[in-house]
Amino acid sequence: MVSTVTMIVLAILSITVIVLRRNRLRPLPPGPPGWPIIGNLFDLQQEFPWITYSNWSKTYGNIMFMRALTTPMLIVSSPDIAFDLMDKRSAIYSSKPTSVVDEMTGWDFALSLMPYGQRWRNIRRNVHEHFHQMVTPNYRDKQTKHIHAFLRQCLGNTAKQFNSTLVRQLLATTVLDVVYGIRIKDMDDDYIKTIVEALEVFGESKISGKYWVDFMPVLKYVPRWVPGAAFAKFAARSRPVVEEMLNRPFNAVRDGETHNDCVALSMLAKIESQPDIEKKKEEEMYAKYATGILYSGAVETTFSLLQTFFCGMAMRPDIQQRARQELDSVVGPERLPTYDDQDHLPYVQAIFMECLRWMTTVPLGVPHSATQDDYYDGYFIPSGTIIVPNAWHMLHNPEEYPEPDKFNPDRFIKDGKINPAIRDPATIAFGFGRRSVRSDVHETGYSQILFILYMLASICPGRHFAKDTAFLVIASILHTFDVKPSIDENGHELDPTPQLHGSMVSFPSPLNYRLKSRSEAAEKLVHATEL
Ligand code: HEM
Repeated sequence: MVSTVTMIVLAILSITVIVLRRNRLRPLPPGPPGWPIIGNLFDLQQEFPWITYSNWSKTYGNIMFMRALTTPMLIVSSPDIAFDLMDKRSAIYSSKPTSVVDEMTGWDFALSLMPYGQRWRNIRRNVHEHFHQMVTPNYRDKQTKHIHAFLRQCLGNTAKQFNSTLVRQLLATTVLDVVYGIRIKDMDDDYIKTIVEALEVFGESKISGKYWVDFMPVLKYVPRWVPGAAFAKFAARSRPVVEEMLNRPFNAVRDGETHNDCVALSMLAKIESQPDIEKKKEEEMYAKYATGILYSGAVETTFSLLQTFFCGMAMRPDIQQRARQELDSVVGPERLPTYDDQDHLPYVQAIFMECLRWMTTVPLGVPHSATQDDYYDGYFIPSGTIIVPNAWHMLHNPEEYPEPDKFNPDRFIKDGKINPAIRDPATIAFGFGRRSVRSDVHETGYSQILFILYMLASICPGRHFAKDTAFLVIASILHTFDVKPSIDENGHELDPTPQLHGSMVSFPSPLNYRLKSRSEAAEKLVHATEL
């Protein structure tokens, strides 16, 4: 009996010694202590996780290790480390963690949530072919037309509080038109209702630490009738909505119900020549996923960015004034800004950069996943670790961006030009991935190798389109309207200072701003766009 107990104690001691030794040889990065079994699961359930992680990084450093049940996580708080891992070592860190939540809600078609592989490459190729830097100027006519319609709507919306739904409508109508060639009138359209619902599913499923099934996949087998199986019920309700968002607009293009030049039509035209029926079906599915992710990836992110712009402007009339001086001298009072003005408006560009930085739209980036064991700076990073770049922290580092909570585009300007010494927030806000080839790609005659490398980078492929949309909205609004704080029922101005709220995609709120037309001449310019 004694010898059995002794044997068990010895076995436990030996295992402990082996584990401790192994851990000493393979030290994990520091991080907040977790609980037995669940690890740091409860630490993930924060309202503003980017702020909590930012505070913890002051204690634990720029790579911080956590564990949610059995899933290892690494919170990265330095852009240089994020580039080292996800750019320079992209062969290890390009994949995305598989998510049971996405699989169950039907969102697993989304590129940025999909593990690296053939399926990812096929969808990414479709997206990239239609949104790289050389192609996006083709969409500028449609963007301009929708932005001018938005300006006309703004003229009719100069009450005490601006109706921010008009901004979402602008983005939804532009993207539906560019991607599917579908023209809609307003937000009551069924296409819009479906996407709004599907995006709500996405937002809900990404609330930090809310659904444990991602950290313990076995929970997906819990039947819906078991008390507490909230996720199973949520997933069952959500899947048809997500499928409808994917299928309906794509099928309308395929079945010839739309007659407008668009991305989906161009993808389908390419597939048309595929002789193999099975291959054709497969390619059609990839095209459907690509258009679905473009549509859903574009609207809410750009909405968040533009709301940041309006809030920042309502807080800072002095900045509006400076931007107007630039617009008045470059564009003049006789016309509205165009894409040809873009390079001559550095202050407008600095406002865009500050919007990307200040209320970081995707504050914790999109997680990547390590596909093999690795070491960084002497620390062990086990295969399967989820890498979370704290983009908010990086963009609020006072050493790079002094007084980071202040909305201040001037931080990017030196001698009337964009100061290249200040890190462009776009290098962080649009995610991480192989980016060293980005800038040369289409400028050096379309080298096939560079094209493929570029295509495989996982940073946001919609960033050129996003920048084009944001530029013309920002320049046109500043040229024709004053952005002011909204007014309450007693005629008092409300504080327009927002806070960042949300989950994977976050938004400034409250939205306390209103618009007032700048002058009669400006109104005339806007009305003239209808002709
Ligand atoms: C302010 C606007 C936007 C921001 C801040 C933003 C940010 C991001 C981020 C952080 C990622 C993850 C990259 C990574 O894996 O690290 C991403 C991915 C993606 N974005 Fe954007 N985005 C914006 C606008 C757009 C637009 C306008 C489109 C479409 C036209 C778009 C389409 C996509 C797609 C398809 C992906 C998945 C890429 C992949 O995993 O291969 N985004 N975006």
